[in-house]
Amino acid sequence: MVPGNISRRVESNQEGVHPRLRSLLDTHLSSPWLQPLHAPSVKAFGALSEAGVSGRHRIVLDSGCGVGESTRLMARALPDCLVIGIDKSLSRLSRTGAVSFPHREGNAIWLRAELSTFWRLAREAGWRLHGHYLFYPNPWPKPGQLQRRWHAHPVFPDMLRLGGRLEMRCNWEVYALEFAWAVNRVLGTDARPELLGEPAISSPFERKYRASGHALYSVVVSCDSNAVK
Ligand SMILES: C[S@@+](CC[C@H](N)C(=O)[O-])C[C@H]1O[C@@H](n2cnc3c(N)ncnc32)[C@H](O)[C@@H]1O
Repeated sequence: MVPGNISRRVESNQEGVHPRLRSLLDTHLSSPWLQPLHAPSVKAFGALSEAGVSGRHRIVLDSGCGVGESTRLMARALPDCLVIGIDKSLSRLSRTGAVSFPHREGNAIWLRAELSTFWRLAREAGWRLHGHYLFYPNPWPKPGQLQRRWHAHPVFPDMLRLGGRLEMRCNWEVYALEFAWAVNRVLGTDARPELLGEPAISSPFERKYRASGHALYSVVVSCDSNAVK
């Protein structure tokens, strides 16, 4: 094993679901998020529409796709879907081999965008996803960083309104517990974190965490867009 590829486990002094998650989530559900959209991501979403992508397609999102390897695997596994890998990092996305975005290869597309703006725009455009993968989102493990975790972010209800089979994977059990808790509170489901086996579709971060001996968790839920108030 190459030492540089060893990753430290997530460290936090938070041990269970954050005590403020319930009130934050209730606030996000009861009041619309009014923060201005991220202008470059609005442009990116427009470019995707100009390229002919719309909610009429059978769409799968690889949100936070990093270097885009998982997007390619998903596109191969789901030939009847349009798989869109989205990341805000140009240096990571460039490793797909693309020089400009959106970049398309068969049924895979990569786009540089800020997810919170992209999800809001997709929801406003009436998209209903076939599938949504969120692999290894940044954990923001300090208790004071709660609002940066996706399930405590104001965009979370819109992310769930996009619908489809949602799968989140992470290497911090607390994040998985919170994510499942938040999904269940919004959708009335009974999702639970499961230990991840050896899935056919994985990602570079997954490989790195597995090689470092971390326990990996997944939360899978079928999102009924209409269940989100
Ligand atoms: C830990 S990496 C995981 C990458 C990839 N999913 C994997 O498993 O190999 C998290 C990725 O999410 C991206 N990301 C984090 N916050 C984002 C945001 N708000 N909008 C778009 N991308 C974001 C980062 O740039 C980074 O590539």
